[in-house]
Amino acid sequence: MATPLYAIPGAPQGARAAPAVPAGANSPTAPAAPAAPAAAARTVAEVLRESQVETVLAELDTDLVGLVPVKQRIRDIAALLVIDKLRLNLGLQAQGLSLHMSFTGNPGTGKTTVAMRMAQILHRLGYVRKGHLVAVTRDDLVGQYIGHTAPKTKEVLKKAMGGVLFIDEAYYLYRPENERDYGQEAIEILLQAMENQRDDLVVILAGYKDRMDTFFQSNPGLSSRVAHHLDFPDYSLQELATIATRMLGGMNYGFGPGAREAFDEYLARRIAQPHFANARSVRNALDRARLRQASRLFADPAGRDRELTREDLSTLATEDIRASRVFGC
Ligand SMILES: Nc1ncnc2c1ncn2[C@@H]1O[C@H](COP(=O)(O)OP(=O)(O)OP(=O)(O)O)[C@@H](O)[C@H]1O
Ligand SMILES: [Mg+2]
Repeated sequence: MATPLYAIPGAPQGARAAPAVPAGANSPTAPAAPAAPAAAARTVAEVLRESQVETVLAELDTDLVGLVPVKQRIRDIAALLVIDKLRLNLGLQAQGLSLHMSFTGNPGTGKTTVAMRMAQILHRLGYVRKGHLVAVTRDDLVGQYIGHTAPKTKEVLKKAMGGVLFIDEAYYLYRPENERDYGQEAIEILLQAMENQRDDLVVILAGYKDRMDTFFQSNPGLSSRVAHHLDFPDYSLQELATIATRMLGGMNYGFGPGAREAFDEYLARRIAQPHFANARSVRNALDRARLRQASRLFADPAGRDRELTREDLSTLATEDIRASRVFGC
């Protein structure tokens, strides 16, 4: 059995050497524990089988619409991890992979969703003990007063240990215009953990691409510790329509006659408006359409004694879509 790569006092040890530690039972994102330890695996197929990482990769492919370049990068990272595991099993020199990442893209492009899948992959391959995701923003890390930031950041790090720490809009940590901003203190503590505890914690910094680029330029220490940059493209209209159908199906709803075309038209208009947030806007639009469907059924002219069929209850009608403000109603 391989020995832990780093000997850091106080840090959980041996995540990479003991890949079959079961998932944290209370974590909603933690997957089932791998079937068997991959300690002695000698082939790619063995590692894949034992870690069941193929299942997560296959689910990523089928569950998420589009995102072709992101999915490819994740496959590349998974391949790197599998080969590293085989090297470790043969006692080859292991440098300790740097797995910290940045996820850049506009709102609603799937960054948080993919980060959860990434946590599962890292767990299944034994790179983190639990595979949970802790998602935070500046306010969770930075205090308002002197002395408040370090305990806050350390508490978050403690929660995230054994999994993935996802820092959304990470650039808000850095406010050069304010000399006494406590964000810098949080960055320094994060940097330390990213370096010293990287065998049991993966940090993903997320946000808009241009702001993230500037942030990395101003924080070379952080930039040099982030090995993988994944860029999330905006979805095409076609992809957004497919996402809508998937979301509706998942909620046991469907489009009635003409409603799909109405929704396509809705998307074409909405995408051109301010604050469009990709798949998130699709989800919000569908939620509002469901509200309208409910109000429509509630105010049914046939009266409240009418028995509502499965079809009545699960169909979004054209009018539920077209009543949106986006159509100028
Ligand atoms: N490719 C996709 N296929 C299906 N559903 C998706 C896809 N991408 C995102 N979604 C859904 O859209 C919603 C928003 O996604 P998510 O929260 O992952 O985006 P985000 O990039 O983190 O957004 P934000 O920047 O606003 O936090 C979620 O409900 C998610 O399930
Ligand atoms: Mg998000």
